[in-house]
Amino acid sequence: MIKKGIILAGGLGTRMSPLTKAVNKQLLPLYDKPLIYYPLSVLMLAGIKNILIIVNKGQLSQFRKILPEKNNLGINIHYKEQSKPRGLPDAFLIGKNFIGKDNVALILGDNFFYGQNFSSKLKKSVKLKYGAQVYLHPVNNPNLYGVATTNKKNKILKIIEKPKKTKSNLAVTGIYFFDNNVIDLSKTLKPSKRNELEIVDLLNKYKKKGKLKAEFIGRGGAWLDTGNIEDFYNTSNFVAAIENRQGLKIACLEEIAFVNKWIEKKDILNAIKFYGNCNYSKYLKRFLN
Ligand code: DAU
Repeated sequence: MIKKGIILAGGLGTRMSPLTKAVNKQLLPLYDKPLIYYPLSVLMLAGIKNILIIVNKGQLSQFRKILPEKNNLGINIHYKEQSKPRGLPDAFLIGKNFIGKDNVALILGDNFFYGQNFSSKLKKSVKLKYGAQVYLHPVNNPNLYGVATTNKKNKILKIIEKPKKTKSNLAVTGIYFFDNNVIDLSKTLKPSKRNELEIVDLLNKYKKKGKLKAEFIGRGGAWLDTGNIEDFYNTSNFVAAIENRQGLKIACLEEIAFVNKWIEKKDILNAIKFYGNCNYSKYLKRFLN
């Protein structure tokens, strides 16, 4: 059972500049919450309580203000800094001691997932014992992502990072599940032409050994982009539309923690105090009633 998760929340956010000059992208508001709430909620929905958040050097205090190590969520938050964006597999080198001898999930701090059954799929993914597992989802612009070619049995044949030309429309989304070999395999990676360790190189190492499994979010699920300003606002509007229509929040961390039985009523009351007089607190009050 995977009990540990890493959120990679560094990066320069260049495509979102000037918004990201002073504030880390993962702390920008996606509708009514900081962006990082969404990937964190995904790990929590998977039942993962031990979480390492990797942030840029110098930005720790920003993150601690909203997600302190001592929190009202019943989860263990750890922080590590990344001195510069060396690529996604750097997460396993930075997180080596945190991972220890366990298996681990990685989620990118800017990824947004939503959809029926996604939680139950996640709960299956954390049962991974050996190998690696990715989630694939069709997109209109595969050249912006890691792209997987699959056979008729949904077996991954090849993964390429941001291919100029591809016949596949299946992007590799930003949530990954790995066995403990991920640390040693990451150590063997060499920087690519863009001078980064590439997650696709890591995944291809698992594939070569026949140990890479593909799952699908499915047609009813959404995996939305927050890569550039327009996509960011479209995703924000998506959250607004769903929340306002249903009166239920996406990625309300305290609600998930309570349903998981990780916290009690008093913790939610503390959270309400922490957030102050705002709609998020009003939602928590309504939830308690
Ligand atoms: O979103 C899924 C895609 O994420 C995958 O399909 C690609 O295979 C994968 O390479 C990645 O592509 P991106 O170009 O979107 O990755 P980006 O460099 O934008 O980084 C994603 C997040 O990870 C972002 O929130 C910043 C953070 N990050 C990134 C790097 C390279 C770090 O914290 N440290 C890093 O060194």
